Amino acid sequence: MVPEFVLTFILGTVFVNGKLYEIPNNFSLGVAISSYQSEGAWNVNGKGENIWDHLTHTRRNYSYDGSNGDIACDSYHKWKEDVQQLKYLGVDHYRFSISWSRILPSGFSNVINPDGIRYYNDLINELLKNGIKPLVTIFHWDLPQPLQDLGGLANLKVTQYVEDYSRILFQHFGDRVKWWITFNEPLSYCLYGYNGVVAPAILSSGVGSYLCGKTLLLSHGKIFRLYEREFRKEQEGKVGITVNIAWFMPKTNSEKDKEAVARANDFLFGWWMHPIFSKEGNYPKRMSDRIEYVSKAENFSESRLPPFTKEEIKLIRGSYDFFGFNYYLAQVIQDDLVTPYNPPSFDQDVGVVATTIPGVEETEHNWFPIYPQGMGDVLRYIHKLYKGVPIIITENGYPDSGQLSDPRRINYIQRHLIEVLKAKEEGVNVFGYTYWSFMDDYEWLYGYLQKFGLFNVDFNDPNRTRTPKASAEFFRLLTKYRVVPSDTIDC
Ligand code: BGC
Repeated sequence: MVPEFVLTFILGTVFVNGKLYEIPNNFSLGVAISSYQSEGAWNVNGKGENIWDHLTHTRRNYSYDGSNGDIACDSYHKWKEDVQQLKYLGVDHYRFSISWSRILPSGFSNVINPDGIRYYNDLINELLKNGIKPLVTIFHWDLPQPLQDLGGLANLKVTQYVEDYSRILFQHFGDRVKWWITFNEPLSYCLYGYNGVVAPAILSSGVGSYLCGKTLLLSHGKIFRLYEREFRKEQEGKVGITVNIAWFMPKTNSEKDKEAVARANDFLFGWWMHPIFSKEGNYPKRMSDRIEYVSKAENFSESRLPPFTKEEIKLIRGSYDFFGFNYYLAQVIQDDLVTPYNPPSFDQDVGVVATTIPGVEETEHNWFPIYPQGMGDVLRYIHKLYKGVPIIITENGYPDSGQLSDPRRINYIQRHLIEVLKAKEEGVNVFGYTYWSFMDDYEWLYGYLQKFGLFNVDFNDPNRTRTPKASAEFFRLLTKYRVVPSDTIDC
């Protein structure tokens, strides 16, 4: 434990009534990024086209700044330098995703791209050489375009292709990768992917979104069972999923608003958590009942929510070793059940209005409310609901315009991490925190306008030079001294 005066000196902080929160040695600190957002090299050395290549090339003005991830941070070429920066940060783990199309250019497992295997082998080996544990996401939204041409996740056959792809990952990397995340944020992919916001940018809210959800949950179950059957004994790794969770509170004390919060929780998060983590499995009843009722009123011949068979429920139920979640958002929820009308939509099914919490500070891009307390609330909620499941925070981050002096980001990390450590002290089984993002990257719809990174990347420089921000320096001190000071830091 570092004496307080030493830290005070190092951090340039004035501790008045400050407290130091200790980060236990068995608590993993890391940073995250994803393949499409950082790798670039979109068509290099045999990589196939994915839905993000396709969307940004066919709709040139898709992102607000007209950009795409063709080059992004060029991590495909700069992986060695990236690992050095990670080493500088002193992280315990690094969360990155694998580009399916770099491994299997057509999406199918019959043809493997040797360069894809080489690239991730190099990266994984370099990480391990530097004492950094890889936390690998199998799918962070970049589906191979040929599979999208067959309907993407609205086509149940994709569950087979996901399993084939995952087998190849376990075969080639599972001797060294011990932490796997099957899917990143199913809600974002199936909700925003089917209301036009992110790829595949299909407009089928309330229909396509549920088909996508069924395929995704089944695929998750299949990957988990595959690992159990063929790899776990030898590789001894862990497999989980990452769900994005917000903290919701009722607008008023009325029963209607409280029920609206329960409904929002079930539709947005229970949709994924209940089938996997609950004892009963299957969709939350509140969700399936409501969709069935609305579908009928809309004159559909059956519920728009595709049901699971008993075998499918069994396949998915209990398919986890840990629970990953991303925390960015807290909102006030109000009941807004309206009479069903056509066309159907997910929003209409949920029937709530979400607004910002009055008086809560927001991030510079006016995007997210800053509500660290919600992080602790979500942790306690999950812990209680799923009886002490091991939890890792797989994302939490602050967007701005990329400036090197970023005290608000430092403050954001401090306050969120303190909530995590407090919950841990209370007995919540949380074993890690991952900051999003490692460096500035391609931020989907926002292109290069919104920056979450600890490192600034110069996107006008062909060399994509990386420069540590003040927050990178702060993170380095966090991992080095393993304490979080409660006072404001002036780096
Ligand atoms: C996603 C990331 C994204 C981040 C910030 C998460 O929803 O997993 O890909 O960059 O939020 O928007």
